Amino acid sequence: MTQGMRKGLTSYGDPDFSLFLRKAFIKAMGLSDDALSRPIVGIANTFSDYNACHGNVPKLVEAIKRGVMLSGALPMEFPTISIHESFAHPTSMFLRNLMAMDTEEMVRAQPMDAVVLIGGCDKTIPAQMMAAASADVPTVIVPVGPMLVGHYKGEQLGACTDCRRLWGEHRGGRIDEQQIEFINERLAPTPGTCMVMGTASTMACMVEAMGLALPRSATIPATHADRLRSAEASGMFAAAMAKNGGPKPSALMTEAAFRNALIVMQAIGGSTNGLIHLTAAAGRLGLKIDLDVFDQLGRDVPVLVDLKPSGDHYMEHFHWAGGVPRLMRELQNLLDLNTPTVTGGTLRDYMATAEDVPGQTVIRPRTSPIKAMGSMAVLQGNLAPRGAIIKQSAASPALMRHTGRAVVFESVEDLTERIDHPELDVTADDVLVLRNAGPRGAPGMPEAGYLPIPRKLATQGVKDMVRISDARMSGTAFGTIVLHISPESAAGGPLGLVQNGDRIALDVIGRRIDLLVDDAELARRREAAGAAPPAAAAPVPDRGYAALFHRSVLQADEGCDFDFLVPGRGPRE
Ligand code: FES
Ligand code: MG
Repeated sequence: MTQGMRKGLTSYGDPDFSLFLRKAFIKAMGLSDDALSRPIVGIANTFSDYNACHGNVPKLVEAIKRGVMLSGALPMEFPTISIHESFAHPTSMFLRNLMAMDTEEMVRAQPMDAVVLIGGCDKTIPAQMMAAASADVPTVIVPVGPMLVGHYKGEQLGACTDCRRLWGEHRGGRIDEQQIEFINERLAPTPGTCMVMGTASTMACMVEAMGLALPRSATIPATHADRLRSAEASGMFAAAMAKNGGPKPSALMTEAAFRNALIVMQAIGGSTNGLIHLTAAAGRLGLKIDLDVFDQLGRDVPVLVDLKPSGDHYMEHFHWAGGVPRLMRELQNLLDLNTPTVTGGTLRDYMATAEDVPGQTVIRPRTSPIKAMGSMAVLQGNLAPRGAIIKQSAASPALMRHTGRAVVFESVEDLTERIDHPELDVTADDVLVLRNAGPRGAPGMPEAGYLPIPRKLATQGVKDMVRISDARMSGTAFGTIVLHISPESAAGGPLGLVQNGDRIALDVIGRRIDLLVDDAELARRREAAGAAPPAAAAPVPDRGYAALFHRSVLQADEGCDFDFLVPGRGPRE
């Protein structure tokens, strides 16, 4: 029996008896002594009928097993939670930490010398990164890969930037009921993750850039044969790691690797959610993502990848243009290419696999970027003492400096009820404010930050307005939208003090978000509000995971992890 099969054999105070029992049960699976003498590679199967993005997982498992066995190791498949964006109530973010705990504990509990984690849909790779960092068993992440694009009347369609754009057109009365139903069938035409640069694509690029996944594994379409070959190779590298005892995630997820990831995130026009997830994964290893450093990187690193929602193309186009390794070549003097990877080499070796594709325009040189600045900017101000974020690459240039009147919504429910009311007092110059939609307030920090344009303005052709909240936004969305305002209103943040008619100033160039109300008045309002929780915040849950979440979830600037999962963090203040 391998070291792996012996792992954790203490339950009966007689390790030999424990091994005897364990062997009896594993023999019931029909395994031979030869099989059981091999190093063990666990494979986390995240297939679920509720997770269409993971529709190709059974095929990937088969390919990974092949790779493991071709390398003389024993693959052991096991299930974990699988989370899909559209089927996770109240939000997928609410469940991310549960999946991280499930994955960590199952990797820790079961005998395995290395593990392959198959992730894809938005919260799954983040949960797996957090788990990998904490369990610290040698890990290869296999992204499921992006969907292929859909087509409608000669136009390419992709989930879900086009879902939002075309739904906006429908709300504005320019696309009728029949057409929108037809479009609905074409937006997500294959298994795989959303094929724009949303959170899923962003996080797949992050694990590739950090050497936790194989080169090009972020971008190969989910349905392509290359995806299976990449999975097979991942199984082989996992088997090698099982034999060699590493490299472990803690050796890969270093400060330099996180910095590389942040550079790539700015250059791909990555999802704002990616910042929260990287912060959470780094926190597991006692590392901090410094928002000021991230903002500075955004000034130095332009958006180079021409993908929706910041640009025009989709993941398959990024792949055929050379993918992440080719992008790294454009960024090589900013990246630390000596960081190690799961293949046993360094990031420099990944970059060497880059294909040169004559005439491609999806990955731009730094001399001709999509946007001169990186995708995200970090804002500070009296409205966001612990920061806020804006995806400037997907915002309207005309609104980057804007002062307007606040139109406040107390909660997601309040927003739903009133946003389309014909009597709503709102103009295109106003600033829409949503509160009680943060990690604790909603709970689970829903992607409600993409407040819809009020119908009466949408029908007049208004496409963008300044919108601010303590919520998140889908990485596939676009607009001049300030997110992750920290602390959130339900945790006593100043967003809770905004009143209808107050003036709010956004200055993305100056990196400010301010409520133009003087300090004395704010102090008066704070006192009037007292210590009482905001009326519109969700009721405090009294049992189960919801209670644990409410008690323990941290703010966006700490990655919304649970306080007790962050080593040395101590209880939330
Ligand atoms: Fe799964 Fe978009 S819904 S990646
Ligand atoms: Mg999403």
